[in-house]
Amino acid sequence: MADARDLLDAGERLGPEELRALQLERLRASLRHAYERVPFYRESFDKAGIHPEDCRSPADLARFPFTTKADLRENYPFGMFAVPRERIRRLHASSGTTGRPTVVGYTENDLSMWSDMVARSIRAAGGRPGDVVHVAYGYGLFTGGLGAHYGAERLGCTVVPASGGMTARQVQLIQDLEPAVIMVTPSYMLTLLDEFERQGVDPRTTSLRVGIFGAEPWTEQMRREIEERFAIDAVDIYGLSEVVGPGVAQECVETKDGLTVWEDHFYPEVIDPVTGEVLPEGERGELVFTSLTKEAMPIVRYRTRDLTRLLPGTARVFRRMEKISGRSDDLVILRGVNLFPTQIEEIVLRTPGVAPHFQLRLTREGRMDSLTVRAEARAGATPQAREAAARSIVTAVKNGIGVSVDVEIVEPESLERSVGKIRRIVDLRPRDTGRG
Ligand code: DLL
Repeated sequence: MADARDLLDAGERLGPEELRALQLERLRASLRHAYERVPFYRESFDKAGIHPEDCRSPADLARFPFTTKADLRENYPFGMFAVPRERIRRLHASSGTTGRPTVVGYTENDLSMWSDMVARSIRAAGGRPGDVVHVAYGYGLFTGGLGAHYGAERLGCTVVPASGGMTARQVQLIQDLEPAVIMVTPSYMLTLLDEFERQGVDPRTTSLRVGIFGAEPWTEQMRREIEERFAIDAVDIYGLSEVVGPGVAQECVETKDGLTVWEDHFYPEVIDPVTGEVLPEGERGELVFTSLTKEAMPIVRYRTRDLTRLLPGTARVFRRMEKISGRSDDLVILRGVNLFPTQIEEIVLRTPGVAPHFQLRLTREGRMDSLTVRAEARAGATPQAREAAARSIVTAVKNGIGVSVDVEIVEPESLERSVGKIRRIVDLRPRDTGRG
């Protein structure tokens, strides 16, 4: 895009040296802020025998202790806050499938920085001031809806706060209000796709130009599917509530080569998930974030459990991260073989005769775990085509991942549809016998 560079904000225009200097200055200030204001950090730094003043280069960060989800739970609800309660303007919470949720808080400055980062993300995706942005991420304690909302307003867009659900109405709104940009989980985008087709509207004829998809892992195959079916550019947005929400990293539409990490505010590391050692650029491991500018809840070396690798910058001065391949929580260990739902997604989406809807069922008989891939037939697929599809998935999983699975091709529209983050794995194994 010819005009793209003119639109960059001050942070995106930094040179590499300036960026390093700014990061170090912010990192030191943020570590000090955490140490001085949050008893949890004071104790954990003291225990590790490290002090904020010991951080003289970003590499020194490796000497500081990690923060985990369990730490946030133990300090529920307000124990991680670094400012007096009356300075907190907003709370969000992650649902947490087990146990207590985790609560995050924002000062006015935090909300403003977050809006700036989402505005930057929407612009990197190809959105422009004046565009109508349809936000179909859920509004509420989840950071998706409100995070996208204020970022779109900050960029100067017109926001349609559709939230998730009421799918028929969403399709109507998209036709009537003519958004250029949609922000939604990729799985809910597929639900919208079905609804367009049910209403007899060609999804390629809408006003949509760009889709900004995140909050769950998705693959290149899924990108192609969505881009073709809707005739839009599909780009990836990443974030997590513990760090801020959406807008920690964003794929630039001109390169579509992974997500640019907004590392003037969020400092990334990739570690070996077993040893905790920092890995060199380019090696795959667990993503860890340290906030550089957050006031209400500074976060130091937060272990995201998301797996990816860091790569040098292309469209921006900042480093990129590869598309997330999965969360360590979603790793299935099937008879000794590691498998992520995204690997199955790649296979299902390139198999003729099946729709892009699938689910993974884990069962156990005796001491033997089995995985059944349930994939939906495309409307009109003949029994022969379905059988061929099942055989082809079995072979692709066996050859590509190295494990035998069962495949069931189910009727069109029979699998549960997503309205937000989709649950790919249905674990039917007995509870107390341990997982994986
Ligand atoms: O999902 C924030 C968000 C909202 C991001 C909307 C993007 C768009 P949480 O509910 O705290 O926050 O969940 C965070 O979701 O650790 C990842 O496992 C996963 N996730 C988020 N974005 C992506 C992505 C929001 N682009 C958790 N690709 C993270 C893969 C993602 N996984």
